[in-house]
Amino acid sequence: MSRSQFITKTGVIAATVGSAVGLGNIWRFPYEAGVHGGGAFLIIYIACVFLIGLPVMLSEFVIGRSTHRNGVGAFAMLAPRSPMKITAYMGILASMMILSFYSVVAGWIMEYFYESLMALFAGDDAGHYAERFNQFVANPWRPAMWTVIFLLVNFMVLRRGIERGIERASNILMPILFAILLVFCANSLMMPKAAQGATFLFKPDFGQITPSVVIGAMGQAFFTLSLGLTGMLTYASYFSDGTRLVGNSVTIAVLDTLVALMAGLIIFPAVFTYGMQPEAGPKLVFEVLPSIFAQMPGGKAWSLAFFLLLFFASLTSTISMSEISIAFFVEEHKMSRNKATALNTGIVTVFGVLCALSFGVLADFKLFGMTLFNLFDYASSNILLPCGGIMLSLFAGWAIDRKILWQQLTNDGRLSARLVPYIRFAMRFIAPAAIFIVLVAGLL
Ligand code: TRP
Repeated sequence: MSRSQFITKTGVIAATVGSAVGLGNIWRFPYEAGVHGGGAFLIIYIACVFLIGLPVMLSEFVIGRSTHRNGVGAFAMLAPRSPMKITAYMGILASMMILSFYSVVAGWIMEYFYESLMALFAGDDAGHYAERFNQFVANPWRPAMWTVIFLLVNFMVLRRGIERGIERASNILMPILFAILLVFCANSLMMPKAAQGATFLFKPDFGQITPSVVIGAMGQAFFTLSLGLTGMLTYASYFSDGTRLVGNSVTIAVLDTLVALMAGLIIFPAVFTYGMQPEAGPKLVFEVLPSIFAQMPGGKAWSLAFFLLLFFASLTSTISMSEISIAFFVEEHKMSRNKATALNTGIVTVFGVLCALSFGVLADFKLFGMTLFNLFDYASSNILLPCGGIMLSLFAGWAIDRKILWQQLTNDGRLSARLVPYIRFAMRFIAPAAIFIVLVAGLL
């Protein structure tokens, strides 16, 4: 069977950046940074992106491109009798958990687009926006409806296959999103309490670094880079032999971090200017954004553009999450692509709706003291993805033939091999040890 590949070089970057950049940067990063004290969180987060994120991403790239298979198939090929396949199955499970709550938030984005369009935000003050959001998420059917609509859109894009759907859309939209975020940054930095917001985000208070901050920061690094559940592995299985793995991984990490920083610089100046609470949690961005639009000249047009682009950024991320299980169903269970896509959408719709109701009807339904939404969010990012990361980097560092690693990282000798020993060392020791320490410290 011939497998599709990304056709252009920019297609590779656009699709992987498209997977990485999404609600993780613009919704989750500000809320996690807010909950965990701003600067203290940021510094650990950046350390995790580069010390743990890069080696794990390269591990996924190497495994994916050397086999051109989905996660389960790749391990079956490289290490037929090893228990590594469990990692891939865990990735499939985690991808569906993430897709469930992610679609809920993407649904909130759709609601906000709709409300902007209908000018429903006009003339309120910051307190009212928060109130409005709380009423909306507690509604017994509206958030669930948007979740289902979002998943249907995701479904329709996925049915069209990999290169047409993903490549074209993200090629055009990601640069526009970048530009718009810059405008919003400039706008927020002119707010009266901009300095206070920037200080909160950038000034580390080392006394505030606790195990929960560190585990949150590491989870965020995994989440935002789409790592740990064989998503980047699956994408790398569509790379061509000319794709530069090391260069691309650095580009992705840098661009992704920049988007998160921009989101922080958009949100926190406004949080302080409008007297809101940085530690509001998953609601933070949705309570703050309407105030930002309200004070911008031409606010309605800006808000429409913002939510529309964020919607597309979410879609390029959910496509990559869905691709994990679809590639698995198609290649390991010989399902048709349509059937695999329908199965993935069906399962996720059930859990997505349950997550959507977590702020209203099911608010009191708790497992381990958390609503389903919070549990899926916490357990996937902070536990499942890091566990996957340990396994993937150990596998790439120890189990894969050294020659394959070298071939993959240098494109068979065409690129410099200077960094290869360091990367291998990071895969074998630094990343797995760091993840392990954080997990143990955070969970005890
Ligand atoms: N990185 C994406 C974001 O920041 C979310 C995402 C897409 C993801 N694919 C993933 C997270 C795979 C973990 C694993 O929005």
